Amino acid sequence: MFPYPFVPGKPKIFRSRVKHIVKTDGFVRFTLFPLGFDGFEPGQFLRIHGWDGVMPSYIGALPEPGQSLPLSDSFLRSPYPMLGRSLSISWSHLDSSEGNSLRGFDLIVRAVGVATDQMKQYEETKELLVIGPLGKRGFQWNGRDRALLVAGGVGIAPLLPLAQALRCSAITTQAFLGARTEREFPPGAREDLESLGVEIHLSTEDGSVGQQGLVTDLLDGALTFGQNAEVCACGPAAMLQALCRLCEEKAISIQVSLESMTACGIGACLGCAILPASKDPNHLLKVCVDGPVFQGKELKWP
Ligand SMILES: Cc1cc2nc3c(=O)[nH]c(=O)nc-3n(C[C@H](O)[C@H](O)[C@H](O)COP(=O)(O)OP(=O)(O)OC[C@H]3O[C@@H](n4cnc5c(N)ncnc54)[C@H](O)[C@@H]3O)c2cc1C
Ligand code: FES
Repeated sequence: MFPYPFVPGKPKIFRSRVKHIVKTDGFVRFTLFPLGFDGFEPGQFLRIHGWDGVMPSYIGALPEPGQSLPLSDSFLRSPYPMLGRSLSISWSHLDSSEGNSLRGFDLIVRAVGVATDQMKQYEETKELLVIGPLGKRGFQWNGRDRALLVAGGVGIAPLLPLAQALRCSAITTQAFLGARTEREFPPGAREDLESLGVEIHLSTEDGSVGQQGLVTDLLDGALTFGQNAEVCACGPAAMLQALCRLCEEKAISIQVSLESMTACGIGACLGCAILPASKDPNHLLKVCVDGPVFQGKELKWP
């Protein structure tokens, strides 16, 4: 268990304005300061709903900016807009003068489609409806000596607060970041890790920065059989599958955060269901409520 604020808080509904927006080629990064947000386990996520997509009749039922509502009743019964998008809670803004209290956090978005492209148009006045923290299971720490964080592209998002939590717990951390090309590293992520003193290794497929090739090759060279380390990873499914195989061969524990497509985000639709390693075909795992972080050995890969 990590110290506060990296512990799971109660999910609530917030209205929050976008701040400190940064846009690069394929990414947008911004900060939210939702008042009353209790804390979160690195790996947990939010559902984001832009006001533009919300029917006006909901608005009267929603909190004023800065207020929050506990999700005590099932909000499935309420007319809340269901089809938001899932985004990992990323770099946290901590107030060290107040015992590391959580002031806000960043979201890092890779624009790939309808909703995320729209997020690239956000300006600082944009107001969002936010639900979170969601997900039953974030990254867990089980007392190993060393953490190896492995990210593919925007997969760095949930690993940034994990690096902060590991730093609070004085655990030695190395990061292995991969992308197709240098422009595909999300804005600010390397600088954030550097500010924590994390040792960073880079790979790009085109060799524009770091070692040329895949991030799995980069990690392979750094792992020794049976090492007392935990690999924590997030990125494309093919990368996570290759990492799980590598860690199994080297008898090293691995946790992966899955960023599958989600429809409802709250366990109601089976849109994010995946197969577990156990052979029972009746037992599916739902990324949004059973995860999004899983032990590598829990998962069945194609
Ligand atoms: C727990 C969790 C955390 C996430 N955290 C982040 C994050 O921090 N930053 C971020 O940018 N994204 C994150 N995602 C993914 C994000 O929710 C989706 O990329 C997003 O829903 C895409 O919405 P869209 O409307 O822009 O794309 P759509 O218009 O719905 O899709 C556009 C195209 O991209 C493909 N696509 C969309 N989403 C995915 C996906 N997840 N995996 C593979 N292909 C996809 C679709 O098949 C389609 O071809 C997370 C997902 C989960 C489940
Ligand atoms: S997205 Fe609906 S069950 Fe997970």
